Amino acid sequence: MAGPDAARYPDAGPSRKVTDGASRQPPAAAQVSRGLLHHGDCLDVMRALDAASVRVVVTSPPYNIRNSTGNGLRDGRGGKWPNAALQDGYDGHGDAMPHDEYVAWQRQCLAEMTRLVHPDGAVFYNHKWRVQGGLLQRLGDEITDGFGVRQIIVWQRAGGFNHNPGYFLPTYEVVYYIPGSRETRLTSGARGLGDVWRIPQTSGNPHPAPFPVELAARCIEAVGAGPVLDPFLGSGTTAIAAEQLGLEWIGVEKSAEYVELAKARIEQTHNGRRQISLALEPSR
Ligand SMILES: C[S@@+](CC[C@H](N)C(=O)[O-])C[C@H]1O[C@@H](n2cnc3c(N)ncnc32)[C@H](O)[C@@H]1O
Repeated sequence: MAGPDAARYPDAGPSRKVTDGASRQPPAAAQVSRGLLHHGDCLDVMRALDAASVRVVVTSPPYNIRNSTGNGLRDGRGGKWPNAALQDGYDGHGDAMPHDEYVAWQRQCLAEMTRLVHPDGAVFYNHKWRVQGGLLQRLGDEITDGFGVRQIIVWQRAGGFNHNPGYFLPTYEVVYYIPGSRETRLTSGARGLGDVWRIPQTSGNPHPAPFPVELAARCIEAVGAGPVLDPFLGSGTTAIAAEQLGLEWIGVEKSAEYVELAKARIEQTHNGRRQISLALEPSR
């Protein structure tokens, strides 16, 4: 992988050092970690980090998709999607919380993300609108209400199957662009990208709901500096994008299975040459 362009990524130098697990000591439990994978709960980890300590947050939380009707998975039965990857939720997370509880939880998470992001940076929060009880439900709007959304990017992914004759086949998800302050500016290369990104979904990833590296990379490049945080790291996609750009990253994932998957995928980015230290417990 080519090294980072120092002019575009002024923070790239230090990031290369801290992500090199072979050349640094494992962090103490109470220490803020960068370039490390935290196995734990994202709220616990985020609350232990300093305000304004990251430049970019790119994340896709669980969508609570099993608490849905119609365009989703019916709780516990698989509904119309018997072969869908998320029929059983995630490893260790059922993805079927009561609606209000889910929204309150995600708003707590978003409050931490916006606290952690630097005024020059931005949060990119991926979610999915869906038809619920026959009407469009913009769940992400409920979650982000009051958090200063500047723009919504449409991520147009490949279509799937639509078994419901009542609406068109859904082919996109949304990414809420929440700047760190009113003064936040995008990099020159990013401004012309437009707000509809056609990026095909990747295949061959055993995680049930990954986004493509290209999606994370575009968000990161739009800010052009690290550290990069993904509190719902899943299979490590955001970390891979940050590694490819030579930037510091912090990832949090609750499932031990996905932590191992992420570790393996991130190591592949460097042909297996990079050691990734796991921070098993956040500070309390
Ligand atoms: C939509 S997936 C993220 C997928 C990721 N963008 C990727 O490309 O692989 C959401 C992830 O959040 C994880 N998760 C659920 N609750 C969590 C929590 N409280 N703290 C950290 N991770 C959590 C799930 O295990 C799941 O892997």
